[in-house]
Amino acid sequence: MPPSPRQMHLGVFVLGTGNHIAGWRYPGAAQSFEDLSVIQEIGRIAERGKFDLIFLGDNLASEPGMHPSFAARFEPLTMLAALAVTTTHVGLGATASTTYAEPYNVARMFASLDHLSGGRAAWNAVTSSGGKAAENFGRIHPEHDARYEVAEEFVDVVRGLWDCWDDGAVVRNHETGQYIDPAKVKPLNHAGKFFKVKGPLPTSRTPQGQPIILQAGSSEPGLNLAARTADVVFAVVQDMAEAQAGYRSLKERMPRFGRQGAEIAVLPGMMPVIGRTEREARDKLNLLQSFVNPANARSMLASRMGMDVSGFPLDELVPKDFPLPDTSHGFAKAMLAKAWREGMTWRDMFNLAGAARGHWVVCGTPVQIADTLQEWFDNHACDGFNVLPPYFPGGFDDFVDQVLPILQERGLFRADYTGRTLREHLGLPRPRSRLFQ
Ligand SMILES: Cc1cc2nc3c(=O)[nH]c(=O)nc-3n(C[C@H](O)[C@H](O)[C@H](O)COP(=O)(O)O)c2cc1C
Repeated sequence: MPPSPRQMHLGVFVLGTGNHIAGWRYPGAAQSFEDLSVIQEIGRIAERGKFDLIFLGDNLASEPGMHPSFAARFEPLTMLAALAVTTTHVGLGATASTTYAEPYNVARMFASLDHLSGGRAAWNAVTSSGGKAAENFGRIHPEHDARYEVAEEFVDVVRGLWDCWDDGAVVRNHETGQYIDPAKVKPLNHAGKFFKVKGPLPTSRTPQGQPIILQAGSSEPGLNLAARTADVVFAVVQDMAEAQAGYRSLKERMPRFGRQGAEIAVLPGMMPVIGRTEREARDKLNLLQSFVNPANARSMLASRMGMDVSGFPLDELVPKDFPLPDTSHGFAKAMLAKAWREGMTWRDMFNLAGAARGHWVVCGTPVQIADTLQEWFDNHACDGFNVLPPYFPGGFDDFVDQVLPILQERGLFRADYTGRTLREHLGLPRPRSRLFQ
């Protein structure tokens, strides 16, 4: 039987007011990320497009100058529980911090979501790069690599807790009155440098066995954690050669952890700005850019550069020796590399941060966008994309109704779901518990 053709995996990054920092000002755009009907509409469009995954990021701090959907939003797991009711196939992914959360609670929340959704849960394990969260937990924000040291153990504890129940542990024997077979439930008894967790969870083994692990770091410790533990990695890249290098760098280190490259899907962030003509698409992007509120762009660029750069003259070139911030490497690396490659000024950097928060913007007709995505996919720069519609619902409708049919026609994306769980969409096997092997 010939191997099934390699097909793309697609996620959608959901921010109710749009991924573009001023998306909400676009005519007809959704106005709020605190409106369940907006989120449910996005869920419906994602399922109409047969998407693999809906992704909800999270930030543990709020300031008025932030991206509107960062500053005013619902807690992501709460949103996903609501979406689990109005969707049937699309994966449901959200962020939970390995620096400011507890592994027992994170394991329990995603195990519950996996049951509630019939096997569609995914956890984005982030170290919370921005330092602002610390003020809300009475803590000092740990430095970059120290955060990843904790994250390594945190992810292991969560995955260990998901393995404390074997399949079939809940027996409900009406004859004997035995509800749970004790031979099929074990404590984890984890005692490590940062965490001491007995287990088990008060939740039986989930439909996926192990909910899906997402990650988004591209620093050395970030890539190592991903190569050892992630099923999907979100990448921040601005050009294909850079994406190919990152793709290779991640997949080549996986055998070190006893894994194969095919066990992970790399999805770069990509903002499609679509027009019937290239000119119309450009005009749409220019209109969106004209809506950018400088305070928002300043806040976003500062979070990516790890410092407020508004003191630099706007029309000055970005200096070649600008330091990589300790907060977050990925975004800064991709944006600075683009700035140096293209001779960008700080004004250009504000526009880039305002448009897609440092992610890649693809502007053109549906065929031009489909061609570009196919080129990246065919040249092993990625395994699909994390789509960032600039505004909702229209910017997402346009992608699903105009670009996807071209990808489907070319056999590059599924025409329909063939499975029910996120693992099945990703072509990943359902693992048995490692505590019962
Ligand atoms: C698509 C994507 C989504 C992310 N979502 C979150 C998030 O929800 N919350 C968060 O604190 N950081 C988020 N991050 C930031 C990453 O987790 C990470 O901190 C950042 O990429 C820097 O990691 P690095 O220093 O290992 O490169 C995201 C990054 C990407 C690329």
